[in-house]
Amino acid sequence: VNPYELIRAKRDGRELSAVEVEYLVSGFAGGTIPDYQLAAFLMAVCFRGMSARETTALALAMMNSGKVFDLSDVPGAKIDKHSTGGVGDKVSLLLAPLVAACGVRVPMVSGRGLGHTGGTLDKLEAVPGFRTDLKPAEFRRCLRRLGVAMMGQTGELAPADKKMYALRDVTATVESIPLIAASIMSKKLAEGIDGLVLDVKTGNGAFMAKPADARCLARTMIGIGKGMGKRVTVLITRMDQPLGNAVGNAVEVVETVAALRGECPEDLRAVALALGQEMLRLGLGTTAAEARARLARAWQDGSALDRFRQMVRAQGGDERIVDDLSRLPQAGFRVPVKSRGAGYVRVMDTLRIGLLAVRLGAGRQRLEDRVDPAVGLWFRKKLGDRVGRGDVLAEVLANRREPGRQIAAELADCYTLGRERPARRNVIVERIAGT
Ligand code: URA
Repeated sequence: VNPYELIRAKRDGRELSAVEVEYLVSGFAGGTIPDYQLAAFLMAVCFRGMSARETTALALAMMNSGKVFDLSDVPGAKIDKHSTGGVGDKVSLLLAPLVAACGVRVPMVSGRGLGHTGGTLDKLEAVPGFRTDLKPAEFRRCLRRLGVAMMGQTGELAPADKKMYALRDVTATVESIPLIAASIMSKKLAEGIDGLVLDVKTGNGAFMAKPADARCLARTMIGIGKGMGKRVTVLITRMDQPLGNAVGNAVEVVETVAALRGECPEDLRAVALALGQEMLRLGLGTTAAEARARLARAWQDGSALDRFRQMVRAQGGDERIVDDLSRLPQAGFRVPVKSRGAGYVRVMDTLRIGLLAVRLGAGRQRLEDRVDPAVGLWFRKKLGDRVGRGDVLAEVLANRREPGRQIAAELADCYTLGRERPARRNVIVERIAGT
């Protein structure tokens, strides 16, 4: 076998064997196959796709390029949740402690912002002192003691994915269903979990804008999980407006704490409860009704908030933020975004909203950029809301006045108003369960 032959085979649409896929992945991870050859191979995959067998082989090879956590000494079912990425998606922040408070262990390895989407790690790090670079022993200790631990991908966990992802990012080869599926699943399966709940986003703020593509990605990931003996459930959820009202880092922590205290926007609550229900079903074997009742109890009686507080403390963060949100980083200016017309909000350009948040400093434009934890957007009007001329649609939380004003002006253009109120659509689009 040589890389040239395999690139040519994929270019011409031939299915590669597991051994051939493994040869490419380990060669690239080990440095014997150069970037330019792997880039050519990845582009061939973008055009030709991969069979289910090839995709599973790819995920497996990527997973085996590093360590696979063995959590068998941590008692109880270990279930994780992963989202394919959205705008204002702070679900992991509240869901992980909520589900842990219900008795399921949640070992969560999260990512940073990617493109226009936010990242759980950046949000957690807005809490002063919070550490996401846990050593495996610390991760295990938190998981054992609190039932929840949240950390970033280390060099040890699926290193082939890390290297391949960086290459895909600069060679226009991110948007490929088998490549996305194998990338996500290689990391998740290396966590040593028993089951996984995936939130596949669809809509104008998602990587998979079309529901048919979201469904295909969902089925591909379920297939990989099945090939590795793991139970995977997918919810396809709508990402055609920011989830909740806050977009940014500290602001999303503010919204999370408020939500855990009981003040939760309806769409955020619906997504968190639906995903939580699936996690309890996989982890505890409860019925849907029992799962909902347990989640509601842990949310209402304060045990989920308490678990969040304990997690912040255990990971080095300032737990006082839970009682005093003003201890989180604060932006210097709040610039209102005023409506230029009247009517019902019919469309929100969520991709553009995400990109504006990145430009403001809530995400990275280049790999080496640092995020500004304090900046962000706070939405006052969302899909279906009635708006009068001059009403405040949103606020821009900025640290520099002029860019803040510019972004506020552009944010107003992200709204399309109409005379008719749009039909209300359920945020949960579809459930697809593996067997
Ligand atoms: N998230 C990942 O981890 N990988 C992808 O390829 C896309 C989204």
